[in-house]
Amino acid sequence: MTASLSAGATPVMDRLISRTVEKHRPLSVHFDLTYRCNERCVHCYLDHDNHGELTTAECLQVLDDLARSGALFLTFSGGEIFLRPDLYEILAAARRLHFDISLKTNALLVTPERAARLGELGVRRVQISVYSDIPAVHDAITKVPGSLQRTLAAIPILLQHGLQVKLACPLMRENLLAYRGVMALAEKLGVPYILDLTITPMMDGSSGPLAHRASVSSLLPVLQDARLEACKPQPTSATARPESVGPLGSAVSSGIESPAYQDLPCSAGHNSCYISPYGDVFPCVQLPQAAGNLRREKFDDIWYHAPQLERLRAIRESQLPVCSRCEIRSYCERCPGLALMEGGNLLGAYERACALAEEKARLAGVVAPTSALHRERDRASVQTTPEAEFALLAADSNSD
Ligand SMILES: C[S@@+](CC[C@H](N)C(=O)[O-])C[C@H]1O[C@@H](n2cnc3c(N)ncnc32)[C@H](O)[C@@H]1O
Ligand code: SF4
Ligand code: SF4
Repeated sequence: MTASLSAGATPVMDRLISRTVEKHRPLSVHFDLTYRCNERCVHCYLDHDNHGELTTAECLQVLDDLARSGALFLTFSGGEIFLRPDLYEILAAARRLHFDISLKTNALLVTPERAARLGELGVRRVQISVYSDIPAVHDAITKVPGSLQRTLAAIPILLQHGLQVKLACPLMRENLLAYRGVMALAEKLGVPYILDLTITPMMDGSSGPLAHRASVSSLLPVLQDARLEACKPQPTSATARPESVGPLGSAVSSGIESPAYQDLPCSAGHNSCYISPYGDVFPCVQLPQAAGNLRREKFDDIWYHAPQLERLRAIRESQLPVCSRCEIRSYCERCPGLALMEGGNLLGAYERACALAEEKARLAGVVAPTSALHRERDRASVQTTPEAEFALLAADSNSD
């Protein structure tokens, strides 16, 4: 239901992924064309001011370079892509280069004419954010009155022009239980959907959006919903990871999920990356560590030589200092980018992932599940409490 590039679905795709990971080819690229937007979603991780977007010519040059590097799957997103007047020129160039194209949009600006152009240009899929089937709930998140109605009106138009449509619904405090309505809506429209339990910090690391993150305890109804299979353990990192098992996943990242990533945290920097509207190249939109800028360097020079990417490629899950010892690793959705942004360490554990993994493990029947991070913290605090120190002293004096 979820997988954007449902890599595990075909052996051919799995072979492609294995080979691109082995050879570090940039198979899938997420390219944000603008951060400007016509909505002001309460949870959005972006700064919507224009700090100097790549020009049309620069975008076309980036596409040429990506094609030469062997990239195949392109996701154009933003901000709101329809605010770029040169969108169709960029899409036409991308199709001439034979990319497989997906878009992410709030769909407010979709009209029959624009949908027809997307269809003619051969865009394959459009992911649309829908936060609820209830207008008041959706519109309170986007801060645009009437936005749900306009967004939903775009879906049949896009379908009529042969585009695949997928709904994306990040879940937060404001729409936690709306996921049921979004599921029903998707079923009625006959389109797939993805529910995302992760609300990330801003790209600059500031924590504003986290105020909208639902507490782990309030996520219980979602985690317990049998249709979502949220608590199904995954094979451990040392073995293959499956593609997402249910309709839960990332509405943000466009990396590829596949069992082919043996012992790797994810596809970021291995065969996927993110390009900002200003030409910065990052391993992933959720891992904002710029590896270089396309105004100064060629894509290949960044992709093959940036020390940030080389360091990322060397990471193996089985060698992570804390997480490799974790007994509930198979319930954990640890993301290296969030480990860096929230825990301050690309290789580390972070509170939210641990709390969520413990809750999932508990619901799956594991008795007293404790993450490695919490186990180590408990051990350290036992060693340092006054009672523990007194007990140690008493034991010492008794042995004299
Ligand atoms: C950044 S938007 C860009 C595309 C388009 N403007 C849209 O809203 O669909 C892509 C996705 O990221 C999600 N998103 C934005 N800020 C987020 C955050 N802090 N945490 C998780 N998802 C977020 C949006 O809800 C949307 O589904
Ligand atoms: S989530 Fe998308 S629509 Fe909402 S403000 Fe951010 S970029 Fe705009
Ligand atoms: S639950 Fe915590 S310690 Fe365990 S793997 Fe996940 S992030 Fe690491």
